[in-house]
Amino acid sequence: MTLADGIFVSAPAKVNLCLHVAERRADGYHDLESLVAFVVHGDEITLEHARELSLSAVGPFGAMLPPDNDNLALKAARLLADKVGRPPAVRITLRKNLPVASGLGGGSADAAAVLRGLASLWKLEIDRETLIGTAALLGADVPVCLDCAVAWIEGRGERITSLSPLPEMPLLLVNPAVPVSTAEVFSALGARSGLKFVCPRAPFCDLQALVAFLSSTTNDLEAPARKIAPAICDALEELRDMPEILIARMSGSGATCFGIFETNESARSAAALLKERHQEWWIVNTTIVPERIGVPRALQ
Ligand code: C5P
Repeated sequence: MTLADGIFVSAPAKVNLCLHVAERRADGYHDLESLVAFVVHGDEITLEHARELSLSAVGPFGAMLPPDNDNLALKAARLLADKVGRPPAVRITLRKNLPVASGLGGGSADAAAVLRGLASLWKLEIDRETLIGTAALLGADVPVCLDCAVAWIEGRGERITSLSPLPEMPLLLVNPAVPVSTAEVFSALGARSGLKFVCPRAPFCDLQALVAFLSSTTNDLEAPARKIAPAICDALEELRDMPEILIARMSGSGATCFGIFETNESARSAAALLKERHQEWWIVNTTIVPERIGVPRALQ
């Protein structure tokens, strides 16, 4: 292998289709349960052999990342290098296509993509348990971002049950251009009781069945997030007013909201209308990833 060899790996955005939060635990985290899916949109990462560790952030939201050593992609490289006893000698280029602090798990997806990518670049014989354990040290959402597949997550996010692929759905993501701190939203949550639902065992036969299930669920972080960032109320209200919308909800700790539509056409029309009204909002027509993406591949 030469110094020029490298890997490309995508970091799809994570959407929490529902999210129930229980009490705060002794370790400061909250027990939760969530139906998580990944969409075709996401950040893009290249990893190249280098003499030392570096990160350059490019793309539409690259400039929004603080230029410090705290970036999760850097932390992931350091942690994995440490685990396997080699120097973290890699040049990371992160094309930040997702808004920062937006409830789409962008930072977690980047960290997970770096772990996947480095395992491939460094040709590591690393078992899944070790990789998941390493991911969990980086953040509650990082383990589920390793597989980028539909899952039910529990605990603080590290207990993962894989689910059957979801029915195809026209999805619209809308971020009203307000970054929201996850820790702040969790701490504004107030007193909680036990969790309400259990993992859906049977696959959803069609979109109607999925929407019926989602309608019986919530995102418990929506109320505290709306207080912190009232623009979330605007995004949700406007989405709910769109023709042929089946359900609109916030993802994660916000501020990104998603709408599931009856048809691709209605999702596209809603996007066009919202873009016209709110040039500053981030609005993307997308769809759930049907099969595994995020598999590292050699740079051309
Ligand atoms: O693990 P991560 O750094 O992504 O979490 C950010 C913050 O969100 C945590 O510091 C914690 O305050 C909150 N959190 C929580 N319970 C979870 C996940 C996150 O309280 N299950």
